[in-house]
Amino acid sequence: MRQWGPKQWSDMEAFEAFLDDGGMVEPADDMPEEYRTAVFRFIELHANSEYMGGLCERDWIPRAPGLDRKLGQLAKTQDEIGHAHLLYMVGADLGLKSREQMLEDLFAGRTKFHNVFHYATPTWADQVSIAFLVDAAALASQQAVFKDCSYGPYKRILRRIITEEGFHMRQGEEMLLCLAEGTPRQHDLFQEALGRWWLPALQLFGPPSRPNDVLLRWHIKSERNEVLRDRFVQKFAPMLTGYGFELPDPVARCEEGTGRWELDDIDWAPLLATFENKGPDSARRLQTASGAWHDTAWVRTALDTAAAREAAA
Ligand SMILES: [Fe+2]
Ligand SMILES: [Fe+2]
Repeated sequence: MRQWGPKQWSDMEAFEAFLDDGGMVEPADDMPEEYRTAVFRFIELHANSEYMGGLCERDWIPRAPGLDRKLGQLAKTQDEIGHAHLLYMVGADLGLKSREQMLEDLFAGRTKFHNVFHYATPTWADQVSIAFLVDAAALASQQAVFKDCSYGPYKRILRRIITEEGFHMRQGEEMLLCLAEGTPRQHDLFQEALGRWWLPALQLFGPPSRPNDVLLRWHIKSERNEVLRDRFVQKFAPMLTGYGFELPDPVARCEEGTGRWELDDIDWAPLLATFENKGPDSARRLQTASGAWHDTAWVRTALDTAAAREAAA
């Protein structure tokens, strides 16, 4: 029977049975605090990562080669910052932190953002690697969340984000093809960048999921990290080698007979360093992000003042 108004559950067992049955949780529902915290942390990490990713795209607007590529960077920056805005709003609605608190915690290093945005992008080919590999990995993760997400507002926002990420991935493929089929120097440029981005892209999925991961149990995620990573390898290893690139460490090799690509052991130390904001470019990126937020305080003040005046009129 359809239940109207905020939902309530007698205990965790009843709540988990509701989730297993495909039930959706809404912000006004009387959800267990453990669930509220888990879903909030997950959304906050996603929001922070979109924000940091957007700034990474912004860095390349003036440096992208040619007007078309600059326009592409501009549009993608707008998309990523828009994703961050949407996610910060969904996060704030859970009532644990305001958007301002989430941003201050990010700048102070109290919360995390995805590993891939802790690295520098010294050449245009690094930016192409992000669009081709990182956007694709992010899209795969988000699709897996969307498929079975039990938190209503997050699932609805993901539908829009995923649509735009699909464009980013296609744009990445087109840019990669230009380099793959371009001059030997362009080919080499991407090969060098691949050496810097293959491992971070594989680690974007996170370390192997714990057996009792509550994100899986409460249908916030639907796939284990290692399953998503393997699916990514099966798709991207043949594509990259097909374009004539060599896979760097950890190398994936195609097994004769099965046709499966088996990945060498992964060195997790670089991922763990990013968890502590000790990645190769973490400090500069956080400083830039904090500067961008504080430098634009006047815009927010002006908008708030105008809205208050309009309301008072
Ligand atoms: Fe995004
Ligand atoms: Fe994206």
